[in-house]
Amino acid sequence: MRIAVLGLGYIGLPTAIMFASSGHDVIGYDIKPEVVDKINAGTSHIIEPEIEERLRSVLAKGKLRATTRVEDLRGSEAFIICVQTPLKDGKPDLSYLERAIRTVAEVLEEGALVIIESTVPPGTTEKMARLLENLTNLKEGKDFYVAHAPERVMPGRIFKELVYNSRIIGGVSEKASKLAENLYRSFVKGEIFITTATTAEMVKLMENTFRDVNIALANEFALLAHQYGVNVFEAIELANTHPRVNIHVPGIGVGGHCLPKDPYLLLANAKEEFGLIRMARRINESMPKFVADLLLEALNEANVEPSSAIIVVLGLAYKGGTDDVRNSPALKFIEIIRNLVSEVRTYDPYVDGTHKSLEEVVKGADAIVIATDHPEFKNLNWDEIKKFLRTPILIDGRNIVRKPPSGFIFKGIGRGDI
Ligand SMILES: NC(=O)c1ccc[n+]([C@@H]2O[C@H](COP(=O)([O-])OP(=O)(O)OC[C@H]3O[C@@H](n4cnc5c(N)ncnc54)[C@H](O)[C@@H]3O)[C@@H](O)[C@H]2O)c1
Repeated sequence: MRIAVLGLGYIGLPTAIMFASSGHDVIGYDIKPEVVDKINAGTSHIIEPEIEERLRSVLAKGKLRATTRVEDLRGSEAFIICVQTPLKDGKPDLSYLERAIRTVAEVLEEGALVIIESTVPPGTTEKMARLLENLTNLKEGKDFYVAHAPERVMPGRIFKELVYNSRIIGGVSEKASKLAENLYRSFVKGEIFITTATTAEMVKLMENTFRDVNIALANEFALLAHQYGVNVFEAIELANTHPRVNIHVPGIGVGGHCLPKDPYLLLANAKEEFGLIRMARRINESMPKFVADLLLEALNEANVEPSSAIIVVLGLAYKGGTDDVRNSPALKFIEIIRNLVSEVRTYDPYVDGTHKSLEEVVKGADAIVIATDHPEFKNLNWDEIKKFLRTPILIDGRNIVRKPPSGFIFKGIGRGDI
């Protein structure tokens, strides 16, 4: 089939590559020329294992090409929309999605299938189908077909999960579901479940809200552990030996493009207030401030005046092993401490623009704060690092340093035992 993928970011680019490597002719469309140029040159603008080899292979076979020209989308039998759906002033910003739908409307031909992969508030896919009808004078279910097929992959494992995860497909019409199922069968080996568009939207949002609320509970347990002198990670590990308990991992906060906003997308079109989900968000959003308080406490113990302190933040990405800094708690943490301390230095081997070497960044510093669980940070030689520090303070926001290194003032989220 001739497939157009709109939005070539963390989700769209791997998706376009997967369809192209399953034999389809894929045209990738993005509004950013620099993204399109890089992709056509065989370079990925996102970090993901295997992405560049796979990209180069489909480019070489002529199965994928990227463009910024709407005209190039003409003749597409399927459109897959993977644009961002962020929050703006706490409300879903669907302007990127609407713009993509308007682009599709310009070139939509009879019989085509339109799939929204972007995560959206319940009711959105139906609304977008109506918008397409109004813009084209065609009818969904008869002249064209619309389905929601939410993406459930995890960055870092995208190419495996695209194939082996099960998928939820919600067609606006029954035929839309059927067509979408056939299309994903090109590479999906997991189960495919068919439902309505609004149910599919809600399922995706419930999954991420479940995780966000679970993490908030874990974070609240961590705060309690400080009061009771307990190591919350040991307590959680023990609690999780119960066959029906699965407490997630506490930490400096919840970031990325999805978890911090999906609970708000779920609530966006609701007619009343829902307290639990909002409260969970508030707890998770407060965690960078808790880590800042741990830092101030440690500086105080070391008799270092905060206003003269040099702080090193290890990790800017929201999650270990990625370069994605969207809604990263590390950034929120930096925002909180920036005006309280003399200097904030950052080091992230995955993110451009931070210090080049660890040695350079820790030289003369008063405290190190771990904000991302990058694999590179797991086996650092703290004895070596200590030699470069002015004051040996270590604050672990990710529980990567299991045993406090000797000679450090050490604090960590949920480490009430120290
Ligand atoms: N990143 C994830 O891990 C993940 C996982 C599951 C679901 N999702 C959902 O998938 C969607 C995409 O997320 P992402 O992380 O890939 O976003 P992203 O920001 O990495 O990529 C979006 C791309 O779309 C482009 N774009 C914006 N408007 C456009 C338009 N009108 N036409 C064409 N291109 C346009 C942008 O330039 C960008 O390159 C979101 O709804 C997100 O919630 C993301």
